[in-house]
Amino acid sequence: MVRLPFVSLLGLQGALALSTFSPRFKREADAVPFVNPTLAGGSLLDRATPTLGEPLNVIISGLSSPGVLSDAGFLTFVNAIGFATECLGIHIGDPQAANLGDGHGYVNQTIELRQDFGNVPVGSCLESLAGGNHLRLFRQNGPTANTGALFLAVSQEENVFEGHTISPDGYDIGRDKFVQGALGASGFHTVAQNITGLLAPGSTGINHGIATDGVVVLLTVTTA
Ligand SMILES: *[C@@H]1O[C@H](CO)[C@@H](O)[C@H](O)[C@H]1NC(C)=O
Ligand SMILES: *[C@@H]1O[C@H](CO)[C@@H](O)[C@H](O)[C@H]1NC(C)=O
Repeated sequence: MVRLPFVSLLGLQGALALSTFSPRFKREADAVPFVNPTLAGGSLLDRATPTLGEPLNVIISGLSSPGVLSDAGFLTFVNAIGFATECLGIHIGDPQAANLGDGHGYVNQTIELRQDFGNVPVGSCLESLAGGNHLRLFRQNGPTANTGALFLAVSQEENVFEGHTISPDGYDIGRDKFVQGALGASGFHTVAQNITGLLAPGSTGINHGIATDGVVVLLTVTTA
């Protein structure tokens, strides 16, 4: 009983000494999953019209394999999910811009992709007619938040005869289908994590007035 405090104190000193010298407490700059865009004037809504936007509802973590975060690597990844580059013959509207709070301000999307129905490049043309999943890609790489994270606006569209717009509930459905595909993509190991508090639930400020549940899914993708 009497010796117990002394023994505990030694244990604490030992732990402190270890933590002070342990290399695992050192961190590389910008080696983070992403930086919250709203902390520096950005938004998890892109700009589709002067006042409305689409939700950036999936983030590919900056801690993913570097190969996945490059344009070419991302294309390989989404090909494994079943997306393809757009069908060039069908008008898809203007590019949208996003401010990821990284010091670049509003920047146009890097890539726009549509779902491939297993028949490249005709597959993405079919998607434009039949409706399907659709995504826009923005990269967080500005001078004040150079994380390399990819912010995606994912949605499910109606077919072209319905005016080629987002389905009712199309943002949440598109996100969930993309995440489901990502978790099953062969050649990759993907971990998904829900994040709330980045995007307000509801339809305020959202293009087409389509409400979302406010969940942003963070995916950490490593090449298997
Ligand atoms: C985005 O692209 C459009 C059309 O090409 C262009 O008019 C606009 O200036 C661009 N916006 C930004 C923020 O670069
Ligand atoms: C993540 O959010 C989606 C959409 O709200 C939900 O369907 C799913 O169950 C959530 N997953 C976890 C692990 O909480």
